[in-house]
Amino acid sequence: MRESPQCGETSAQAIGTGLILGIESSCDETAAAVVRVGSEALSNVVASQMSLHANYGGVVPELASREHLRNIVPVVREAMSRASAAAGHPITFADLDAVAVTAGPGLAGALLVGITYAKALTFGLDKPLISVNHLEGHIHAVLMETRQLNELPMELPLLALVVSGGHTHLYLATHEQGGETNWTYRNVGRTVDDAAGEAYDKVAKLLGLGYPGGPWIDALAPHGNPRAVPFTFGEIKHRAPREGVTNKKAPTNTEGPHFDFSFSGIKTAVLRYVETHNMRDSIEARRAVLAADPTLTPKSEAVIKLCDQQTLDLIASFQYAVVGNLQRQTFAAAEALGARSIVVSGGVAANSELRRRLQAEADRRNLPIAFPSLALSTDNAAMIAAAAWPKLLARDFASEDLGATPQLRLGRQ
Ligand code: KG4
Ligand code: ZN
Repeated sequence: MRESPQCGETSAQAIGTGLILGIESSCDETAAAVVRVGSEALSNVVASQMSLHANYGGVVPELASREHLRNIVPVVREAMSRASAAAGHPITFADLDAVAVTAGPGLAGALLVGITYAKALTFGLDKPLISVNHLEGHIHAVLMETRQLNELPMELPLLALVVSGGHTHLYLATHEQGGETNWTYRNVGRTVDDAAGEAYDKVAKLLGLGYPGGPWIDALAPHGNPRAVPFTFGEIKHRAPREGVTNKKAPTNTEGPHFDFSFSGIKTAVLRYVETHNMRDSIEARRAVLAADPTLTPKSEAVIKLCDQQTLDLIASFQYAVVGNLQRQTFAAAEALGARSIVVSGGVAANSELRRRLQAEADRRNLPIAFPSLALSTDNAAMIAAAAWPKLLARDFASEDLGATPQLRLGRQ
């Protein structure tokens, strides 16, 4: 629902303090943050459920919803109190210009907790509610930080690689000249099966490492030979859908060239390698040691010793291939679509090899590239409040019947 400014009233006049409370509960993190004018995070509180789901090797939706219910009130309270401390004076709900919440994509029950809470809050306060797409939030995490660092705005159109446990998407993004309102997005690539982070998580689990798998593989890969196992990625064929068969992830009705991904093949290739090289016993031994000692982290020295050279080589080769694939598709899209800058975001953007290789290629091509800080790579609410800022300026508010949209898409396909 878009509400136009009153006659003679500019968008800038329509805002007061510029403070937005962001709320995020789409997956396994309950998060709240207060952000001023889309660029200054006064607080950013994240209650992670990682240890809860680690026992199951993945997110259990029912447990996630229950945990969000438990966490939402204390997390919002903490975000408000930290914002007050950062501002040096009390900030109350009355000082907010709006509340922004993730409406999708994500787990239905998990999203509903944040949406219901945000709706109740805005109803009680008589403040506007802003609905944010989680993927748009990931992109704005980086834009907010470049603004914070007083760096020049990213040149448009920008290509955004959003790469996480649930998503691997490429978007071409731009906005109206003369103000940062009315961002538009075109989806120019996506995974047709597993997300890149999902592949990291599944391969780590297969090799007896911890959850989530990304940080374990990231920490161990430098100790192996990335060329030991030559994994390859085949071309992704676009087949017309068969009658009666739907594939929600497969692109449909797309316009222009597409740069898609597929990560389920490499996961199967790792499984086959493990089976043909009799690695099962050493994997189970490692799994048992890690289960018995929860103090071991991906960076613990002892963890390297739990892996023989063959395992380290396999890990390094897996990461080398996945990063290479993300790199190739991203730069092919940037070139074909005339992108003038690149933004990388989402949990996998924390990966050190991905950062290093994408930065090096961007430098070679003279293309500006930006990554979020580690805290803003994974799910958080500061990114939701930041993405809501242009919507507040445009008075693009959600209606009272806002609901959860688990398969919410961003922009044109
Ligand atoms: O964005 P995020 O917190 O949640 C989703 O929206 O999915 O991303 C979580 C994903 C997990 O799959 C995790 O394994 C991956 O990000 N991840 C990493 C690293 N840190 C987190 N993947 C590779 N390298 C990392 N350092
Ligand atoms: Zn995410």
